[in-house]
Formats: sequence, C-alpha cells, structure tokens
Amino acid sequence: MPATTPITKAVIPAAGLGTRFLPATKAMPKEMLPVVDRPAIQYVVAEAARAGLDNVLVITGRSKRALEDHFDRVPTLEAALEEKGDEKKLSAVREASCLGDIHYVRQRDPKGLGHAVLCAERHVGDEPFAVLLGDDLIDERDELLGEMIRVQQATGGSVVALMEVPAEAISAYGCADVTPVEGESYVQVHGLVEKPAPEDAPSNLAIIGRYVLHPAVFEVLKETGPGRGGEIQLTDALQTLAKREGEGGGVYGVVFRGRRYDTGDKLSYLKAVVTLASERDDLGPELRSWLGEFVAEF
Ligand code: G1P
Repeated sequence: MPATTPITKAVIPAAGLGTRFLPATKAMPKEMLPVVDRPAIQYVVAEAARAGLDNVLVITGRSKRALEDHFDRVPTLEAALEEKGDEKKLSAVREASCLGDIHYVRQRDPKGLGHAVLCAERHVGDEPFAVLLGDDLIDERDELLGEMIRVQQATGGSVVALMEVPAEAISAYGCADVTPVEGESYVQVHGLVEKPAPEDAPSNLAIIGRYVLHPAVFEVLKETGPGRGGEIQLTDALQTLAKREGEGGGVYGVVFRGRRYDTGDKLSYLKAVVTLASERDDLGPELRSWLGEFVAEF
C-alpha cells in the first residue's frame, strides 16, 4: 500500500453502554443525546464530512435503531414541512441525511475500543482510515482532522490527536510519550499508556478521540490481549505500532490547541451544551444574558 492512499473512510465507535447517563440511555444510545438541537453523533459525522470523509462506518451495539433512523430520510416529515413552506426546519431535517454514505456494523461483544475498531476491518480493507470518538466534539472553527490526514499521508504511519491536560486529569485518558520532529508541526510518539496514574504518566499529553490509522493496526489488534479494564485497548495496539519500523509502523501526534467539548460525562456534557448554545446566533444573546443573571443570583 503506498503511503499516499487517499483517506475516505471514517469509523465511529458507538457501541458503548452509556452507563454514565443512565437512565437517559436505558433505551437510547448515548450518541443520540442532544447537544443543543443535534444529537452528539451528528457533530462528529459532520466533522468527518468536512475533512472529506464521506464513507462513514458506525460501530453499533444493541440500541442502534435511533442512530440509523437519524441519518435516514423521513419522506413523510419532509413532505409535511415542504407543504407548510417551512424551509428552515426542512433543511434541519435533511442535514443529517446528506452527510455521506453511512454504514453500520454491530460489535457483538463489548470488549473495548480496540475490539470495536477491529469490527471495521472488512469495511475499511487495506487503506488508512480515521476513527472519531463521539464523546469528543471539536469546534468546527478549529482544524484538526484535516491536519492529521496530512500527517498520515506525509509519514505513512498512524496519527493520534493529543491535547495538554492538567497532570491530575491524565488518568482519564491515553497518554503519549513524545519528542518533536525537526522542522515539522507534529511530534513522534515513542510510547503510549492507557489511563496511567498521574505519577506514572510520561507526559501531560492526552489522546483525544481522533485517530488516523494505518490498516496495519488490524493485525496488531488481533494479537493485542486485554489491557486496562480487561478490554482490548486501541492505545495498546498503537503502542506496538509506535515501536515498529518499516511498513505500517510509526505513530505521530498532532497537538490540538483549539476548542474541544467533552460530552462523555454529565458535568462536561452540560458545560458543552451551554458553551455551544451560548455561541449560537439564534440562542446565544438571550442565553448569555440569562446566564449572567442566573450566576449573579447564586
Ligand atoms: C478512550 C481511549 C483513551 C482516550 C479517550 C479519549 O477512552 O481509550 O485512550 O484518551 O478515549 O476520549 P474512553 O474515554 O473511551 O474510556
């Protein structure tokens, strides 16, 4: 496979049980939780589309129906809105079904992120591909995925998105040991460790949920045993690739300094919703002034 095989495919793992949001996620995937007025996963699929990845594979679990329905057309609703001449709502409804080709595959056993990515092997084949985790939303005004794709094409290896976090927060993330690459904006990753204790962390650089991977990761994942939490960890497979030389080896990092919204737990989710809503033209002015009053009363 030449290093410059163009990248067109994005994989979005969405099989998690969403236990942090119970009971809201009892019968609905957590990826469908609304962030202002769109389900979280729509932001992620839209981000992939903006980076030119219009072939999306969603790795789902048991409660997949709502996801599939969301990205499908709804002819009756569209016809009703068309009849009313409600262009605004019509385009909001159509937005999600125009984001590219969306495919679904089920992860039958919840064996971890690495196992979820392995479920994409047949769909992806022998091409580099992106993985986007739905808990992390990247502000559309800030570039990340496009830069990661450029680094993958330039290096022929795999690329992770990194972000500096406070030392005590690193145990919630994969952590990277890196050195700068002369004359380049990206870094070389020498080692990765999944959710280390702060005293064992090689740096304060956390993996945030964006990856552009060489397909060699599939063979490595098949040989990767259970890691942290008894799960097959993508971080562990990338650690193997970081140490490998030659075809498919090498891991690089793009350090993101833009705006990222975490929707993975209740408090972060609430902050993400308020931040995004307060920046919107239609809701922001009123929300911001109400927030000011609300805080003043506290
Ligand atoms: C996963 C990865 C972890 C990464 C994180 C980013 O963990 O395993 O390396 O830092 O996503 O959000 P999770 O948050 O799914 O436990």
